[in-house]
Amino acid sequence: MKMMLWQKAMLAASGGVLLAGCSNFPARKPPVLVWPDMKFQEKYKPQMKSEFFSDGRVTRRPVANTIALETYKEDEAYSTGLNPDNTYVARNPEPLNKETLERGQTKFNIYCQPCHDKTGSGRGIVPSKAIWVPGNMHDERIVNFVDGEIFHVITNGRRSMPAYRFQIPEKDRWAIVAYVRALQRSWHGTMADVPADLREKVR
Ligand code: HEC
Repeated sequence: MKMMLWQKAMLAASGGVLLAGCSNFPARKPPVLVWPDMKFQEKYKPQMKSEFFSDGRVTRRPVANTIALETYKEDEAYSTGLNPDNTYVARNPEPLNKETLERGQTKFNIYCQPCHDKTGSGRGIVPSKAIWVPGNMHDERIVNFVDGEIFHVITNGRRSMPAYRFQIPEKDRWAIVAYVRALQRSWHGTMADVPADLREKVR
């Protein structure tokens, strides 16, 4: 059945009225709220001024000499890579096994590879597009770092390298350190490091 013109007009008009019910599109004033629900509440937002507290701040400071549970670290050396006397932790506290190395490899390839490339030489995709020179992890200076120093670099960044402590949990950072050690070892490896029965294949 063909629609008459007036029927079409009615349909369009009623559609318009229905849609207008959903928003107050043509109106410039805020909608009339019959039930305001929780649209307006008495509340503080960050950085607002407070009449309640004597210092006028809404954002409260922690009570003096307290540490928030979620930032409390029982083992400082493990979480910072620094000993109490401010020297770098000498050895990786994580067990050096296949599981740690594989975890380190996965995380290295996610977080470090873009800049340092898969081998750690520092020729990743980021420096190929930007004037930015990541360190070569096979430089003697860096090979001579103790484990805690590499951990510290990942945790806090260094010079133009950004910090990764927020992205990478501590355990994974130590796993990456173990993997970086493996990369360095393989880079400076010789034929003598290859098991005798595999030497033919490598040559
Ligand atoms: C966004 C790029 C970028 C990423 C990602 C990155 N690095 Fe770096 N890294 C750099 C740059 C740039 C330098 C050189 C810093 C300098 O000397 O100014 C550097 C230097 C280093 C150094 C040598 C520090 C020194 O004293 O010279 C180490 C070790 C290192 N990075 C480890 C890592 C590890 C491990 C990861 C992964 C967790 C990582 N980096 C991820 C950019 C990056």
